[in-house]
Amino acid sequence: MLKYDIHRIRNFFPILLQKVYNNKPLIYFDSAASSQKPVQVLMKEEQLHNDYYGNIHRATHFMADKATADYEAVRDKIKEFINAESREEIIFTKGTTESVNLVAFSFCEQFLNEGDEIIVSEMEHHSNIVPWQLAALRKKAKIVKLPFSDSGELQIDKLPSLINKKTKLIAVAHVSNVLGTVNPISEITKIAHEQNVAVFVDGAQAVQHLQIDVQKPEVDFYAFSAHKMYGPNGVGVLYGKKYWLEQMPPYQGGGEMISEVSFEGTTFNELLINLKLARQILQVLSLLALQLILSMISGLKISLNGKINYLSTLILN
Ligand SMILES: Cc1ncc(COP(=O)(O)O)c(C=O)c1O
Repeated sequence: MLKYDIHRIRNFFPILLQKVYNNKPLIYFDSAASSQKPVQVLMKEEQLHNDYYGNIHRATHFMADKATADYEAVRDKIKEFINAESREEIIFTKGTTESVNLVAFSFCEQFLNEGDEIIVSEMEHHSNIVPWQLAALRKKAKIVKLPFSDSGELQIDKLPSLINKKTKLIAVAHVSNVLGTVNPISEITKIAHEQNVAVFVDGAQAVQHLQIDVQKPEVDFYAFSAHKMYGPNGVGVLYGKKYWLEQMPPYQGGGEMISEVSFEGTTFNELLINLKLARQILQVLSLLALQLILSMISGLKISLNGKINYLSTLILN
């Protein structure tokens, strides 16, 4: 017997109320690609539009002040959600793909030299392959494949022999979008860190199922997208260890990230390292709605084996 009321859960998703194909109830199984949004998220976005839309960080009226405070509160909430050490380690992006691109550009600009190597697992989404290939092309570096076995598991025993003095970073998914494999991030980071190699984890398919703690195991970068976790479209999160972020050059230029600008040159906001790396004003309202979904799921132990059903936990609490 189902432990939850499926009809009640369905009612939280307005899109599921419609009938399709000769009056059949709409059933949606593509949440891994992009999840539908519960009514709470949809209403929050509308409420924000109606109540206090304003340009964050740069205006001084009531709405902008409130939007800025809420926007920065989301950063704190995400810091807690993934147990980052500091709020400055949280960078808002457009999604996982942009987070990978940011690190592939900015980290590689600083640390990747001609002849260096990046290890990428064989089971990655294209978003966690192509940006590294572009960086390797730019820097005349090499991509090395970490293969997986016939049973769909990464061949971690091969990892030590793939690492050498030229290896700068390992890029790996926490959970594979192709196979559903949960990769052993602790083992990977242990092997990598013993050789001073950074680890980038693509958490796009993990954040909605697993409790994420970026300090245990200690990862260097962790990325995820809101639209795959019942949250709003067009926003995502990149966690980066302060040690790395402080040394990485900006990925995109624009307002808000600068300390001073003149036509002779620009100095960046070194105090706010997350602002230095990428211009931070995104879809503000979407980002604020993300906070809502974080509140709904934070603190819950969500299991991939189905012992705790994500949706029932999300909705019924
Ligand atoms: C494992 C993984 N990484 C990255 C992405 C790309 O995510 P986004 O399109 O939100 O940037 C996806 C999307 O399906 C994914 O499953």
